[in-house]
Amino acid sequence: MNFARRLDKILPSKTLSITNRVLEMRKAGEDIISLGAGEPDFATPEHVKHAAIDAINKGFTKYTVSTGIPELKEAIATKLKKDNNIDVNPSQVIVSCGGKFALAAAVLALCEEGDEVLIPSPYWVSYPEMVRLAGAKPVFVPTKAEQCFAFDFDELQRALTPKTKLLMFNNPVNPSGAVYDEKVTDNLAEWLKSTNILALTDEIYESIIFDDIAIRSLASYPEIKEQVITVNGVSKTYAMTGWRIGYAAGPKKIIAQMAKIQSHTTSNPTSISQWAAVSAISGDQSFVTEMKAAFKKRRDFVYDRLNKMSGLTCTNGLGAFYLLPDASYFLNQRTGKGKMKDVVELCQYLLEEYRVAVVPGNAFGVPNHFRISFAASMEQLSEAMDRIQAGLHNLDS
Ligand SMILES: Cc1ncc(COP(=O)(O)O)c(C=O)c1O
Repeated sequence: MNFARRLDKILPSKTLSITNRVLEMRKAGEDIISLGAGEPDFATPEHVKHAAIDAINKGFTKYTVSTGIPELKEAIATKLKKDNNIDVNPSQVIVSCGGKFALAAAVLALCEEGDEVLIPSPYWVSYPEMVRLAGAKPVFVPTKAEQCFAFDFDELQRALTPKTKLLMFNNPVNPSGAVYDEKVTDNLAEWLKSTNILALTDEIYESIIFDDIAIRSLASYPEIKEQVITVNGVSKTYAMTGWRIGYAAGPKKIIAQMAKIQSHTTSNPTSISQWAAVSAISGDQSFVTEMKAAFKKRRDFVYDRLNKMSGLTCTNGLGAFYLLPDASYFLNQRTGKGKMKDVVELCQYLLEEYRVAVVPGNAFGVPNHFRISFAASMEQLSEAMDRIQAGLHNLDS
């Protein structure tokens, strides 16, 4: 069968394929610890669940306005002003089926054949595929791995061409845990102003930042606010990955084009989840503080254990819930099955022989690294570190 040519260059999600293999192995009775998934292991807060149950009982179970219920758009506009100093009217907000669809709709609305999109690397696995789906070309901008993945403005400038349409900027970063502070965004805002490109900023991990680093949203810089679309959502902040609520805010004319795409594809995000999101965004925030404290403890533990493993090096993750150790030292070594080709084989070895799932870095543009999600209990993390240590130790050089 002939499929649409636009899919020729699109790869299936590598993180989802690990998750599928883990499910298969667990079904076969194997005790697998998965540090692959990008979702908080906490339960959604009770008051949020109750808001959803209330919504069902009150009959909010029908189509809503495609761009989201007015109450949620209002709550998002208020949150953006209060937390991010972003001035938007609710009419400049679109609520989508997850931050993922908000990002995809923005890319589809803005980019086409002949356009280039700058993506700092390492990057979230879906960015390049979204760009390719739109027919445009992802252009990767390496960050400085050896300096905690510091932003590299020389590389950024080098990557800029007359075809550049958009920069995708994720802060904090999945998969490296890098967090770009205000000094970086000051420079980035100044750089963006000197260009005529747009910025799509993904702030989905904004509430999981350790060590008191102050970040600033690009859309809060008045001089570039017409160039910036901000994406965020409730998945990570309130442990609501399954509820599928994300949003974008930005210039009205861009949001209107995204609304066209949404109205003809997903219609509205789930009515019940939208009411739950109103409660999450406007309600008591103590859950977020507790979750962050738990993540910090786990980050400290995993960071320490990884750096004590002979041959492995890992820069610290300052935000999100990932660490990205460098496994270069092991990549030419041998398992019982022979010499490994790459980090994919290393991750396969760890999964098949040591029953711990991590994601190969080639999914994120860093083929010498693997990603560990520390969204798991301390007991699981401790056991997983023992397994990884044993697995690496038992390789033959
Ligand atoms: C960097 C980044 N952006 C966006 C998302 C999308 O999250 P959701 O669609 O659940 O809102 C994710 C999820 O893993 C992510 O890691």
